[in-house]
Amino acid sequence: RLDVVEIFHGISFPGHLHTQDSLQRAVEFPFQDTDIVIVSYPKSGTTWMQELVTLISSRGNPHLSQTVPNWTRAPWLEQFYLASVLEASTITPRVITTHLSQGLLSSALQVSKAKVIYVSRNPKDVAVSFYHFHKIANFLPDAGSFPEFLNKFLEGKLQYGCWFDHVKGWTSQTTSMDNLLHITYEEMSLDLRGVTEKVSSFLQCPLVDDEVNNCVAHCSFNSMKDNKMVNYTLVAEEIMDHKKGSFMRKGKIGDWKNMFTEEQNQYFDDVFKSKMQDCPLEFIWE
Ligand code: PPS
Repeated sequence: RLDVVEIFHGISFPGHLHTQDSLQRAVEFPFQDTDIVIVSYPKSGTTWMQELVTLISSRGNPHLSQTVPNWTRAPWLEQFYLASVLEASTITPRVITTHLSQGLLSSALQVSKAKVIYVSRNPKDVAVSFYHFHKIANFLPDAGSFPEFLNKFLEGKLQYGCWFDHVKGWTSQTTSMDNLLHITYEEMSLDLRGVTEKVSSFLQCPLVDDEVNNCVAHCSFNSMKDNKMVNYTLVAEEIMDHKKGSFMRKGKIGDWKNMFTEEQNQYFDDVFKSKMQDCPLEFIWE
C-alpha cells in the first residue's frame, strides 16, 4: 500500500519512502564539513533550491541538472535510499535535502561545518500548494476539503509535522547556526539573481556574470517546468497522478487569495499571530 504512514518522534512521514531505520539513520547522520544541506518544510521551494544549488556548483552549466533527477543529485536525508544513492554518486560537493525539524537534526549538525540553506515560504501559499500536492501524490492521505485541510495545517496534523514548529526551530536566534543561510521563496521569486549571488557567496563558489545569468535562466519556472529531472514526470503514475495536476503547478506568490475565504483568512491570521508571537520573521504574502 502506498499511503502507509511511518510515525517518528510524533511526526508522520510517507511510509513508501521512510522507515524507522531510515529516519533513525538520518538523525545520526555523519555529515561532512563539505556537505551542503537544503532544509525546508514541504512546498516551500525545496526543488527550486535543489536546482539553484546544482547550477551554482556547476557554474551555470545545465548538464547535471538536465541529466540527473533531483532526488539522485540532492537526495533526501530521511528517505530509505539515501545510502545507496550517496555510495553510487560521484557528485561533489554532496548536496543533501531534508524536511526534518531542527530538533531532530541539531545533534548531527552540531558536530559538522556542513553548510545549511533553510528555505521558507509564506504559510498561506505553503498550505495551498500542499493541498494541491495531496491530490496528485498517492502516497499522501486524502486531502479532504480545503477547509478541513487548512485546519489540519494550522493544527500541525499533516505529514512532516507542524509548519510553525519547523520554521521557528530552524530560524530562532537560540538555535541559528553560523553556517545557516535563510532564503525565502518570495526572495527567489522577486530577485532570483540576488539570491543566486547570495547563495554562491555562502557556498564560497563565486560566479562571473555569465554564470549567474545561466543559473537564473535555468531556474526560471518555465525552464524547470519543462525539465523532466525536476518536474517529477519521471515518477510512476501510480505514485503521482499526473492527470490530476502538475508538481510545477503555478509558481506564484499569493495564490492563497484564490483559495481562502475572508473567514478562513481571518482565522489563519489569528492562529498565525498567536503561534508566531515569539518569532520576529516577516513574510511577503502577495
Ligand atoms: S516538495 O514536494 O516539498 O519538494 O515541494 P517544493 O519543491 O518545496 O515546492 C513546490 C512548489 O514550488 C514551486 N516551484 C517554483 N516556483 C517558482 N519558480 C520555480 N522555478 C519553481 N520551482 C518549483 C512549485 O510550483 C510548487 O508551488 P505551487 O504554488 O504549488 O506552484
